[in-house]
Amino acid sequence: MLRTHTCGELNLKNTGEKVTLCGWVQKSRDLGGMTFIDIRDRYGIIQLVFNMDIDSALCEEARKLGREFVITVTGKVTERSNKNLKIPTGEVEIIVDKIKTLNKSKIPPFTIEDNTDGGEELRMKYRYLDLRRNPVRKNLELRHRMATETRNYLDSKKFIEIETPYLIKSTPEGARDFVVPSRMNKGEFYALPQSPQTFKQLLMVAGYDRYYQIVKCFRDEDLRADRQPEFTQIDCEMSFITQDDILNTFEGLAKHLFKKIKNITIDEFPRMSYSEAMKYYGSDKPDIRFEMKFVELNDIAKGKGFKVFDDAELIVGICAKACGNYSRKQLDKLTDFVRKPQIGAKGLVYIKLNDDGSLKSSIDKFFNQHELNKFIKQFNAKQGDLLLILAGEKLKTQKALCELRLEMGNRLDLRDKNKFSPLWITDFPLLEWDDEAQRFFAMHHPFTSPKKEDIALLETNPGEARANAYDMVINGVEIGGGSIRIHNKGLQEQMFGVLGFTKEESQAQFGFLMNAFEYGAPPHGGIALGFDRLVALFGGSDSIRDYIAFPKNNSGRDVMIDSPSKISKEQLKELY
Ligand code: AMO
Repeated sequence: MLRTHTCGELNLKNTGEKVTLCGWVQKSRDLGGMTFIDIRDRYGIIQLVFNMDIDSALCEEARKLGREFVITVTGKVTERSNKNLKIPTGEVEIIVDKIKTLNKSKIPPFTIEDNTDGGEELRMKYRYLDLRRNPVRKNLELRHRMATETRNYLDSKKFIEIETPYLIKSTPEGARDFVVPSRMNKGEFYALPQSPQTFKQLLMVAGYDRYYQIVKCFRDEDLRADRQPEFTQIDCEMSFITQDDILNTFEGLAKHLFKKIKNITIDEFPRMSYSEAMKYYGSDKPDIRFEMKFVELNDIAKGKGFKVFDDAELIVGICAKACGNYSRKQLDKLTDFVRKPQIGAKGLVYIKLNDDGSLKSSIDKFFNQHELNKFIKQFNAKQGDLLLILAGEKLKTQKALCELRLEMGNRLDLRDKNKFSPLWITDFPLLEWDDEAQRFFAMHHPFTSPKKEDIALLETNPGEARANAYDMVINGVEIGGGSIRIHNKGLQEQMFGVLGFTKEESQAQFGFLMNAFEYGAPPHGGIALGFDRLVALFGGSDSIRDYIAFPKNNSGRDVMIDSPSKISKEQLKELY
């Protein structure tokens, strides 16, 4: 090795030892007779000292070192007189007697500090410099530890990691495919997997019983803070299990990770049906770190001449504790918030319970105090509380109130990043109707089995059928989703039929899977957790990009390697 130690491991115990270190120049200070240089590697940072009186030539050489030069030094570990107790090596320094520049560096385009002066675009262009910064390095170390602990847990439960191919054909998960033209098969394309879904099911048919893979998936969809075009799943499948077995196994994985990585014991992992989640939180990924559940008001709000309520399919509200003192201005701001196009409500009704017990509302014209008191009772509200009510079309109103609830949660500091409230959402609808396409889509994916008691609905009223599907949600983030699968050819064919495939189409696209079901396919099911999202959640950030070494920007570009890019005429020709 070119070094005896790393820059992060030396302390008073090493005093007197001769060491050789390698690292990057973080900063240098020239104090006339003395020059101090901090050198940094992955493990930490340590101070080097050069004394003009002892070796002026060496000192001169040290003064020439620029930021981010990569150097090697040999010297003696010595106790510092001026200690820095903020860093582990801060009680010692190296009195250097040999120095060598391994490679020079241009002046970096931004400072390699925890709080850098570099903007996002610049940091992504020079991601290899950004990756030298402590916070980014810590994020990737967290990712590594989580991957390792995931493997430890799944290995202990007899899962085996099996790789599946990347050059496949379309697996529908609801996004567009990235496609790869085939040189050897003129005019034909591979698709990159949106997930290894069909392969993991085939592994169950093959008898592998418990499979997992920490695997890249590719989806051509609009990007957001929690979405990348290529991302990583902890993808799993099990045979001979019930839905409960899967929930218990992966609840176990989440608990294991929380304990090992964050030393947090998760006691409760509640289960909530999709319909309950929509009713009480207006979302299939509720943030249950705080209460503020929805209260429906149709029975007491209609028929008093207030058109907004009278015409509404749903009248529903939340109670913001101790916000009864909100000013006109604050309430106007909330109204503006719900009226934003992405929220889509037309207006906001409020009822304030003043501290003196009196009521003030935006609907005083239509409801007298006695009637308003019925609202208060329905919410079980207390003096000093504020009721916020939306009305309109059911789904839209639920979604808008969900956003308002989260906004109030933010305002009231109820969404603590250090608190973790996981839960399972179960009993999802099997299908979703798409008005534009005028057909059903699978809410999870087409391989998800309907609940046994709902199979008959596929013939009569498919929209009402529920699925054996579940999502793992933590702090309002969809961390993972899965289902018990169809393992019977007839039912799978029927499902494709409901989704609008002709027999020929489903045979051409998924014949390989349905044929496999004819060779002793065991009952099976599984789940995939979004690994990037899980790591970001553990790290306390909303952006998964911070936890990916080389992420893409919001237009799906890697600005460092400048991709996607054009390819040569010759290449295009070869690919027809
Ligand atoms: P699903 O499509 O729900 O299920 O994906 C599983 C989890 O992957 C994460 N995820 C993403 N993360 C980052 N960027 C993206 N573009 C992205 N898309 C999805 C989410 C999501 O919950 N084959 C099924 C799983 C199964 O049924 O076993 C599947 O892929 O956290």
